[in-house]
Amino acid sequence: MTAAMKKIAVLPGDGIGAEIVAQALRVLRALAPLGLRIETIEAPVGGTAYELSGDPLPTATLDLARSADAILFGSVGGWQWDKLARDKRPEQAILGLRKALGLFANLRPAVIYDELAAASTLRPELVSGMDVLIIRELTGDIYFGQPRGLRTNASGEREGFDTMHYAESEIRRIARVGFEAARKRQRRLCSVDKANVLETSQLWRDVVTEVAADYTDVALSHMYVDNAAMQLLRNPRQFDVIVTGNMFGDILSDEASMLTGSIGMLPSASLDAHGKGLYEPIHGSAPDIAGRDIANPLATILSAAMLLRYSLGEEKFALSIERAVRRVLQQGLRTADIAQPGETSIGTCAMGDAVVAAVVAAAGERDDA
Ligand code: IPM
Ligand code: MG
Repeated sequence: MTAAMKKIAVLPGDGIGAEIVAQALRVLRALAPLGLRIETIEAPVGGTAYELSGDPLPTATLDLARSADAILFGSVGGWQWDKLARDKRPEQAILGLRKALGLFANLRPAVIYDELAAASTLRPELVSGMDVLIIRELTGDIYFGQPRGLRTNASGEREGFDTMHYAESEIRRIARVGFEAARKRQRRLCSVDKANVLETSQLWRDVVTEVAADYTDVALSHMYVDNAAMQLLRNPRQFDVIVTGNMFGDILSDEASMLTGSIGMLPSASLDAHGKGLYEPIHGSAPDIAGRDIANPLATILSAAMLLRYSLGEEKFALSIERAVRRVLQQGLRTADIAQPGETSIGTCAMGDAVVAAVVAAAGERDDA
């Protein structure tokens, strides 16, 4: 079986980005002898790219991302760049990639591993079995709406303003992603908005309701975002798939991640209309722990699994990685962020070693099965 070689753009970025992406690459490479054919090409992004070229998203990096079949992304940001003009800040790199590549559908699964239920900030009996897929629209909303800016008004006071904006077509396509995903799961879709206050949200609710006519097998509910934030803490297991806008999704996905025990565990996929995607852990660059071999690489390793599933169509290899991660957790291996008081923890590289060993075993099992 000789599948065509797939090209992966590797953009490690800032802070812990390089360390965690390195471990994900080791895991992917461990699958090569089993038939995974990938070529990886690395490029600078974020503050690291700014230091090299004065631009957080250099043209060469964007071109590489455009030409690749998929993008593996680490993280961007750091205090040393926080005072730069907005268009030079590291965050513009990820926002620019999302927009330029049309990566409108952000999939953020928040799944609890039973081994880590004790690490959740909620009681284990509340989170045990939690499996929520948050689908966040990623290229519209107040993140990109115009006009936006800072100005001084007539009375000499400074003002800041941003525009929340959604076109019907943008809502319709993300709603479809939500319904399709729900169909493959428990067929329950909760659309989150703020339709009691915002016009944008009223349109959102109307359009999602229209799309529902094509998915009568999926149970649709609507929830205001403030209530959704509360319900996630009250009873996270009530949710199957949540679909929401860019801003609300940003906030709710961080909240949901913590329920699973650690933001260091959660991967994400940002997809265009054709299955091309950018894959990144949902956590940030954690500059305070960068370079110390203590960051948790599992969110990035799980992002690599999503890459295999959604952009390369390699479901079996994706499952091998996910099974390997479960295996190392079952073995009791923990990085510091997911270790309980009194448990010993291992470093970033050692966690990578463990997953590499487990993934080869997991892939082998599949062949025997
Ligand atoms: C995320 C991050 C980004 C966002 C930042 C880094 C621009 O918080 O991916 O959730 O707000 O989308
Ligand atoms: Mg965020």
